[in-house]
Amino acid sequence: MKRVYNFSPGPSILPLPVLEQAAKETCCFSDSGQSVMEMSHRSKDFEAIIEKAESSLRSLMGIPDTYTVLFLQGGASLQFSMAALNLAGVEQGEQKKTASYIDTGIWAGKAADEAAKYVNVAVRASSKDKAYTFIPPAPAPSAQDAYYHITLNNTIVGTKWTDIPDTGSVPLVADISSCILSEPLDVSKFGLLYAGAQKNLGTAGTTVVIVRTDLIGHAPSWTPALLRYDIHAQEHSLYNTPPCYGIYIIALVLEWLEKLGGVPAIAAINKEKAQLLYDFLEDSKLFHSPVEKQFRSIMNVPFVSGNEELDQRFLKEAAGRGLINLKGHRLVGGIRASIYNAMPIEGVKALVDFAQHFKV
Ligand SMILES: Cc1ncc(COP(=O)(O)O)c(C=O)c1O
Repeated sequence: MKRVYNFSPGPSILPLPVLEQAAKETCCFSDSGQSVMEMSHRSKDFEAIIEKAESSLRSLMGIPDTYTVLFLQGGASLQFSMAALNLAGVEQGEQKKTASYIDTGIWAGKAADEAAKYVNVAVRASSKDKAYTFIPPAPAPSAQDAYYHITLNNTIVGTKWTDIPDTGSVPLVADISSCILSEPLDVSKFGLLYAGAQKNLGTAGTTVVIVRTDLIGHAPSWTPALLRYDIHAQEHSLYNTPPCYGIYIIALVLEWLEKLGGVPAIAAINKEKAQLLYDFLEDSKLFHSPVEKQFRSIMNVPFVSGNEELDQRFLKEAAGRGLINLKGHRLVGGIRASIYNAMPIEGVKALVDFAQHFKV
């Protein structure tokens, strides 16, 4: 069967060479005589896989040695709690610490709601009044804040932070689930970064955490072991059985990215892909982007005609042409093209070509 162009927001398209390599190694990885799905996470073969995944990620993102990289489970959603617990959790009976959150969409809101179970959350700015179509100016943190949280790329509404807020000595925490490795990012500006793997890194089930090592080790004593960064760090992400196959796929995706020329190379391709779509939307008499120009994501591009029936017909006909999973999030409606790293430029050209010829 012919492969389609999959514009899903996550789980998402994977690079074909990665799928082919994984298929080749399904039954026998290297000379181990077994599948990665079957092997012990304490074996030499798996040790090499997880070490390769970490070293590739470190070199692709330029992660300083003062940061710890963890491969965890629970999705980005579990990091909403883990970040709060590990950076600002207190012992029972102690007064809660405070943290600043910027509300730029559904995921940013969920992160704040979850954190509020453990810390006093102050939502310092929000773009909710304009349906999250822009990124609000970021107020300075309060000096007492344990951390400051942003969602760097907002998958549902298609916005991204263009300037990283300067939070001084207050650690900046960012959810980078839908933009990790899409363009260069100065890791040293952050205290903690986290991302679910199912967009730019690999398959659902693995979460990557990049945390400044001095921020580890402050979780309150009642924190469940599996939610403590210090325990995962001490055990090099092998405290319990990790998502072995997911980590293997991440290693393959990172190897693919290295061969392509790394983050600068993919960033140039990503910008070209996004430009194709945004240029089309600028010219289109039928569709428009609801997002303010300067905050437009290069990973998730929502667009609408203003006529729900027409949008539905567009989605149906697009799917008939092998352009699938273009439906906008249920809370936003319309159409959304997620054009992650693995989406070839040919896929975006095919979408633009289809949209240009789409008749009312
Ligand atoms: C920006 C962002 N944060 C968090 C999540 C939730 O991720 P998970 O399903 O891995 O918990 C998503 C999912 O799409 C996302 O796009």
